[in-house]
Amino acid sequence: MPKTALPEKALEAQLVDAPTQHDRMPNPEELLLNTEDAPKITDRLNIFPFDWRVETPRLMEIYESSRDPGWSPSKLPWHTLDVESMTLDQRYAIAYWWSLLSVFDASGPAVFARAMIHAYETHEEDSIRKCFFSVTRDELHHEEVCGKAITMLTPNGPLGYEPETELGRLARNNVEWLYHNGARYWSGYKKAVEHYPMPILFSSFLFGEVASSTLFHSMYESTDIPVFKEAFKNIGRDEGRHLSFCLALLKEVLPKMSEEDKETVTKQFRAGFIFLSGILFEPPAEFWQLPPTFIPAQRLLEEKAREAGFGILTLEKRRENWRTAVVRLKTIVEPYGVKFPALPEIDVDGETVAFDADKIIPIF
Ligand SMILES: [Fe+2]
Ligand SMILES: [Fe+2]
Repeated sequence: MPKTALPEKALEAQLVDAPTQHDRMPNPEELLLNTEDAPKITDRLNIFPFDWRVETPRLMEIYESSRDPGWSPSKLPWHTLDVESMTLDQRYAIAYWWSLLSVFDASGPAVFARAMIHAYETHEEDSIRKCFFSVTRDELHHEEVCGKAITMLTPNGPLGYEPETELGRLARNNVEWLYHNGARYWSGYKKAVEHYPMPILFSSFLFGEVASSTLFHSMYESTDIPVFKEAFKNIGRDEGRHLSFCLALLKEVLPKMSEEDKETVTKQFRAGFIFLSGILFEPPAEFWQLPPTFIPAQRLLEEKAREAGFGILTLEKRRENWRTAVVRLKTIVEPYGVKFPALPEIDVDGETVAFDADKIIPIF
């Protein structure tokens, strides 16, 4: 026994009761008699209470497969992009295309994040919320590629640098107009996203995903610049997955959709066509507020980018491509009794519908 140890009795006298020790445990029966109901959550768009129900298991499967997208924008072979070997105009022209894309793709994170919050507020099933999360992450990657391409080609671009050539100045003016229209789109989208039920939102998203997967596939095939080719391949794969999300959900909801909602979908398809034509084809005046110099300047820039091996399709090819994509969409929705709008710009017959610039919801 060590010399300093206290005798057993003295040690016991020094013991202090732990503060959490009760003289008796609460009785659950008694407690239950005295519980009070929590106030009802009456706020229509409140994210509480939560549940984790899954109504569309296929969505959860696609979400699982999206956890690892298999690529990362920062790991693309950016070091192979030989900016020095390009003329100033070629740099401006390629950066211009990425700026045009950014109206659709760099708005993606904010647009889908908004949709995700809305899905929480309207208590959609867990798998819908997760889909939006995964698409938001993908869109952030696409935005990152837009930013990296633009700032490598035109440091501080697209607007924070002084172009040194006429074509460069035309590009900048066009980008200012593009962003003016992008800002109008965002104002409309914010209101629209709260206005429509999920099945209508997903129908509009479907159009965007058909457009984006078509676009990136064609850009991948026709671009010779390795880092961009690689980027298009990966972005295209992401967009294909977004398309699968939309199709999986719509297969469930389209058969149950009311006639009135179907009419809204037809109108939204027309709106989607007009908005997305800004990149898939050429911007129609029904939505796009642009000066008369815009299209001629864009054509010059496209020609210059092609000269540097950047694969923007010719107008005729784009028209053909866009038409193929739209007809594909038409064959998906028509069996469910959703009428397709007339798109005379690309020779597609259908219903004549009104266009409301304040309520557009298509996204990439
Ligand atoms: Fe995207
Ligand atoms: Fe997408």
